[in-house]
Amino acid sequence: MSDQAAKTPLQAIKGTKDILPAEAHSWQAIESIAKAVFELYGYREIRTPVFEATELFEKGTGETSDIVVKEMYTFIDKGGRSITLRPEYTPSVARAVIEHRLYLEPRPLKFYYIGPMFRYDKPQKGRYRQFHQIDIEVFNEPDPGCDAEIVEMADTLLRKLNVTGTEILVNSVGCPKCRPAYHAELRSQAGRVEGRLCPDCQRKTQTNPLRMFDCKVDSCRALTRDFPDITDFLCEECRDHFARFRVYLDLYGIKYRIEPRLVRGIDYYTRTAFEIITGHEGAQNALLGGGRYDNLMKDFGGPDICGIGFAMGVERLLSVVALARPKEKFLYLAWMGEEAKKAAMELARAFRRQGIECLVEFKERGLKSQLGRANKLEASWTVIIGEDEIRKNKFQLKDMATGEQREAGRDETMALIKAAQQLLQGDA
Ligand code: HAM
Repeated sequence: MSDQAAKTPLQAIKGTKDILPAEAHSWQAIESIAKAVFELYGYREIRTPVFEATELFEKGTGETSDIVVKEMYTFIDKGGRSITLRPEYTPSVARAVIEHRLYLEPRPLKFYYIGPMFRYDKPQKGRYRQFHQIDIEVFNEPDPGCDAEIVEMADTLLRKLNVTGTEILVNSVGCPKCRPAYHAELRSQAGRVEGRLCPDCQRKTQTNPLRMFDCKVDSCRALTRDFPDITDFLCEECRDHFARFRVYLDLYGIKYRIEPRLVRGIDYYTRTAFEIITGHEGAQNALLGGGRYDNLMKDFGGPDICGIGFAMGVERLLSVVALARPKEKFLYLAWMGEEAKKAAMELARAFRRQGIECLVEFKERGLKSQLGRANKLEASWTVIIGEDEIRKNKFQLKDMATGEQREAGRDETMALIKAAQQLLQGDA
């Protein structure tokens, strides 16, 4: 049996997981906080398909990236096309901007998206095969003030989510003008120790020597420790961009560390690269990563406009943040007899239309048993409807926390519950 297969058809595939109702609240909270923050900075949502032509990622994410070399979910569809489940979002957004000529629109090109990505990665804590990213992208803004603003926005989002103990790492990975000299220097240094580098690093010396710094093998790390830093090889424009980026970070009061070995695992990056890491999660400590990709649009055959963005892993976020679930307030409708059942169903509809959450159960039960159910389900109130109540058009309204019970008409019941709800919402 291949390792991606579930043990039985009734188990989720390795590297994927169900988000059960108990957890779904945290997902919804993260999503709504992220959306609110992004909209404040002028971002708008963009949704693209889950699968794309394989070539998009080969060209965009890059042929020397581990993602393209080892991790893509690629298949041939029934029409004979090579299709890939998106391993990241940036190439999809770039494609959509070009395809729909969004770059002609007057507003700043700022997009966000939250959704699943797919990588055939080695599953472990914080590393899944279907995982979720909160992604933002900005196009056509070359100023380093934008680089600083998105780092500040990421930091603001993490603060709003009460994530603590993070560190911001920044670097510049240069541009096609200054990188060749650095590559040549790395190749020459690697040549001296080549026999001792792992086969992966030996391959990387040829394809993209920067990638050697991503290697997790201790002996490779030791061998590359004294290799020169890219920051010593930056051309004047890249050096200036990096310096101004840091001036603006200082302006925002953002604390960061320059990490010259931060090269990111994707081919399109130019100049600014950054990550926010956390001490909580061992090896999978990158909560988010991003950077500039000034040549991607041009390389895709689109207009020559620059881009920058980041993506945050939702599963990783959830492993370091606990979002308390507010206690739900809802009304249980207890009924006795078929006429009361109908009244309960109709009343529930009216309550729901007023925004009051209600539960009517359809099985006939004694009053005691229904009150027991209401208690067990932690209902805030119970409305009791029997023949008497229907005749008088009045209900018994029971406050489940205090046990207090009173007779109330329909409108009065509604008003009472709404008022109580508002009061309780203030407490939550
Ligand atoms: P990335 O660094 O490959 O960048 O991924 C961003 C984040 O996605 C990571 O920091 C991590 O939190 C999460 N992540 C990645 N792989 C996994 C996995 N297997 N399981 C769980 N979480 C994972 C990108 O994807 C770029 N598209 C970011 C970007 C946007 N750069 C510019 N714009």
